[in-house]
Amino acid sequence: MLNHFDTDIEITSDDLRQTRDYIHDLSGIHFTLGQITSRRHRLQQRIADLQMTAFRDYFYHLKYDTTEREGTQLMSILADSATQFFADSAVFEALRQTILPRIVADKDAARRSRTLRIWSAGCATGEEAYSLAMVVHDILRDRQDLTIEIIATDISTDALAAASLGEYSASAVDTLPEAYRQAFFVASDGDFRISEELRAMVKFSQHNLNDPDKVRLIRHIDAIVCCNVMTDWSDNARRRLVRGFHRVLLPGGYLLLSSSESLRGISRAFHPVAVGKSLVYRRTPLAIRSEVITSVEHVVGTAEAPIDQPVATTEPATTSVTGRAMNLLKGVNGASSESDWEHADWGLRR
Ligand SMILES: C[S@@+](CC[C@H](N)C(=O)[O-])C[C@H]1O[C@@H](n2cnc3c(N)ncnc32)[C@H](O)[C@@H]1O
Repeated sequence: MLNHFDTDIEITSDDLRQTRDYIHDLSGIHFTLGQITSRRHRLQQRIADLQMTAFRDYFYHLKYDTTEREGTQLMSILADSATQFFADSAVFEALRQTILPRIVADKDAARRSRTLRIWSAGCATGEEAYSLAMVVHDILRDRQDLTIEIIATDISTDALAAASLGEYSASAVDTLPEAYRQAFFVASDGDFRISEELRAMVKFSQHNLNDPDKVRLIRHIDAIVCCNVMTDWSDNARRRLVRGFHRVLLPGGYLLLSSSESLRGISRAFHPVAVGKSLVYRRTPLAIRSEVITSVEHVVGTAEAPIDQPVATTEPATTSVTGRAMNLLKGVNGASSESDWEHADWGLRR
């Protein structure tokens, strides 16, 4: 079947399938045939922009480009990169109210590393990373003793160029509280530019989350925010990335997905934990990892520290906290039969 849109370049259904498979292998994104078909004209436009006239020539160029530069470019054109400041407000509230204070309190108590490292994985044009910086600035600006690193990565070089520039339209910053606009933006020709102070808090870098060798380079992370990135990914690609996240998080570190995403059916290596309106995922803290878990208190916390509460989402429904905790314990200590657990890495290989 041939189709002609804005250009004369012919793209058959087989061509679309090949493109879809290429994008999946590169990025983890698995477009349905309907999704890739609806993007046919973007592919045609890309081929035309490169002054090529046949899909076959373009695909050769794509496939044999060992730098993957064209693949990354195509992926930027085809993938969804919609984002906004504080896109999933529950995630940022969980960080502000509970997670960041808790991470810092744990560091203080353990006299551990003075570095707080947060990773915005799949940051698109930077709004998520700068939102993190605003929250961190709000609650930790007086902690001069802490080194704070916000690492923000994306596969798309175009998105990263915009993120790095940090210039946003009036409508993009419209949703922010006035106090934030005043504190963190400078008006510039009708647009708003991120302040130098906030810009300096974020390190942007091009990075493919579907490449396990790259994922393991970003290490000793306290919290990973990976919202709306894996939504179109295949389950295998998700499993691989989540395994990578588990490895690079510090013990007790947090993985935050958007409210519409979960690790159900993907991984049981994390503890699901209810924080405010969010369900977040936590790597087992050191205190738990250093011994075989034998008591419910290890998992549900104590009366003095009821900050968060694990929820056994992958186990049969039970109503009591104790019941849910027991399900978690069953999972932790009886993990051998679950294939996901072989990757649980309870810290022994760190
Ligand atoms: C819909 S945006 C989400 C942006 C932001 N996290 C948010 O929730 O507002 C998805 C982003 O994930 C990025 N992405 C998808 N697959 C990726 C991969 N394999 N490696 C790195 N980034 C990827 C896309 O380039 C895009 O910028």
